[in-house]
Amino acid sequence: MDEKPLKRNFLQRLLGLCATPPPRDPDCWQVRDGRLVVDLARAPELERPDGALRLEGRGLPQRVLVVRAAGGAYHAFRNRCTHAGRRLDPLPGAGQVQCCSVGKSTFDHGGRRIAGSARKDLVTFPVHQEEGRLVITL
Ligand code: FES
Repeated sequence: MDEKPLKRNFLQRLLGLCATPPPRDPDCWQVRDGRLVVDLARAPELERPDGALRLEGRGLPQRVLVVRAAGGAYHAFRNRCTHAGRRLDPLPGAGQVQCCSVGKSTFDHGGRRIAGSARKDLVTFPVHQEEGRLVITL
């Protein structure tokens, strides 16, 4: 599959500024018993394919990126590129995520490395849907 870069300028990449903002509703998620629970009714970012939620802080042991795929499935990744730890963003229309840094490491939704400076696959987390919520096992 071809690598498709995100539309990020060089300065954004140099500074490692990701394209995915924090959630509009900061209370759309919580950590319960080692599981990350996302209330889909409060997460409009995930209503459309290639939408993404960037979750971090507030007791979450590691940064997490949740992405909605074109087919409607949800994928969760440790939001840390395996090259040097920068954040990731979804690549619209590609079924991939890409590091926001100049190295542009690119991974498929299974976390497998496709291109870029990284040599290892991403850490992924299982995602289940329960009554309007996503339950992500960390
Ligand atoms: S940190 Fe991701 S490519 Fe370098």
